[in-house]
Amino acid sequence: MRGKFVTLEGVDGAGKSTHLDWIARRLQAAGKKVQVTREPGGTPLGEELRKLLLARSMHLETEALLMFAARREHLDKLILPALAAGSWVVSDRFTDATFAYQGGGRGLDLGRIETLEQWVHQGLQPDLTLVFDLSVEEGKRRRVAATSQPDRFEREDLDFFARVRAVYLARAERYPQRIRLIDASRTVEDIRKSLEDTILTLCQ
Ligand code: TYD
Repeated sequence: MRGKFVTLEGVDGAGKSTHLDWIARRLQAAGKKVQVTREPGGTPLGEELRKLLLARSMHLETEALLMFAARREHLDKLILPALAAGSWVVSDRFTDATFAYQGGGRGLDLGRIETLEQWVHQGLQPDLTLVFDLSVEEGKRRRVAATSQPDRFEREDLDFFARVRAVYLARAERYPQRIRLIDASRTVEDIRKSLEDTILTLCQ
């Protein structure tokens, strides 16, 4: 049986990385084989592209194309084979991040991103996307506390993150079947409790 594909999203600082390992362990406890991965990255070439994307300034279309180049490789080498073999795949970010960051944050036309999405995904969409949602001010406080050397995205200003957040919220409204908004201002414990049902339902 094909595995399921779960993606975690949100503005930097919203805490998705904190929840990633717990979600993977929770799925394993439910008897699933789980492959944890991330974007940009997830393959040797994708991780090379990640280094460039997080460090080097570039044209915003170059940035979007490299995100999708890394994603093409990720789908081919990891995501699709793992799902076909019955593994579940939990990815720290996927294409919703390109809509939010390159589309919302940088202002790239969303229609162009949709074109790349159709080309690269070949019909695949996550079975579930968890968007960890937080005010941009609180996100910044958490980023500053957690990161001593912010990358190129983490150094962006509050307006940038407000645009990123707005796109995540709009997509959650547009795709209610796939995307679940998680109020990330709560304690880790409360968030885990609220995720428990969602995860059990997905396992059925
Ligand atoms: P992330 O893994 O959240 O960073 P960290 O390791 O610091 O938790 O993501 C790296 C950055 O890449 C993040 O700031 C968002 C950005 N990004 C995009 O701009 N577009 C994309 O398509 C993806 C996947 C990530």
